[in-house]
Amino acid sequence: MPRTLTGIKPTGRPHLGNYLGMIRPALDLARSADGDALFFVADYHALTIAPGTAAQLRERVLDIAATLIAFGLDTDRNILYRQSDLPELGELTWILGCSTPKGLLNRAHAYKAAAADNVAQGRDPDHGVGAGLYYYPVLMAADILAHRAQAVPVGRDQRQHVEIARDVARSFNRAYGPVLVVPEAVVDERVMTVPGLDGRKMSKSYGNQIPLAAGPDEIRRLVSRIVTDSRAPSEPKEPDTILELYRAVAPQADADDLERRYREGGVGYAEAKDLLADAIERLLAPARRRHAELMADPQGLEDTLARGAARARASAAPTVQAVREATGLGRA
Ligand code: TRP
Repeated sequence: MPRTLTGIKPTGRPHLGNYLGMIRPALDLARSADGDALFFVADYHALTIAPGTAAQLRERVLDIAATLIAFGLDTDRNILYRQSDLPELGELTWILGCSTPKGLLNRAHAYKAAAADNVAQGRDPDHGVGAGLYYYPVLMAADILAHRAQAVPVGRDQRQHVEIARDVARSFNRAYGPVLVVPEAVVDERVMTVPGLDGRKMSKSYGNQIPLAAGPDEIRRLVSRIVTDSRAPSEPKEPDTILELYRAVAPQADADDLERRYREGGVGYAEAKDLLADAIERLLAPARRRHAELMADPQGLEDTLARGAARARASAAPTVQAVREATGLGRA
């Protein structure tokens, strides 16, 4: 069975879109696969975003770790670690970057979007672009290749980064021989794009998200913000953001039922919002309690991460050694 690996960037409170789009499919895959699964919190990658304080970053790392465990990650069976507990990733990033064509990085969506935005504003394309943002895909390739991961479960937005990691591996292998395993992205196409409260993709950058940590009152308040038209309960309605979100969180039969009532008329938006808020609450409540317990014991989380780091370093060491040998770095 393939070895799977995925990372989550600790930039803000994780939300329902992160959970449904990426965390849940990755946890499902880890449970169903007999191979090992590695999960890590990508704090090195978080430095490419506007920095908060050191304390904030550490808090967010623990938040993501606690979220993964609360939603069912088994830290005995799987490996959970903090990216920056593996300093060898820096070495691997450098080495891989040397056999990676620069043009490959020019084409990365995140960099291209930043450059295009600058050009649209009449600025130099590289205005405000950190070299870390540019190099982001090489670090991500190091994350994946260090562990010889074969399957990388990611949301659609990260597919290109895994494609780049494949190219990075192939470029290295072409230059030095077949040292690295070429990974494969696993994007669960059945997972729909989760709409946010305004109907656009749920994303922190749109401010339209439902945080996983939201309690029942916050969930209700956020759901009440979804804009609807003024049709009366008896009037037929087309599927809308409420229904789409409901489909993402409720059992299929319930979603089919609500859709039928939308189309036939006979359900009001207030009732639909109640159903939606209840379904979100049912999905999140058990994990919320576990998450709170875990966050109340930061030392316990740190211990878990330290155990994961020891296992992850043992997993990465042979690859780093093979890369050093193939390139001629260090003594023979
Ligand atoms: N770039 C990913 C994201 O923003 C996080 C990430 C970093 C990652 N390294 C990875 C995901 C390696 C998968 C594999 O979501």
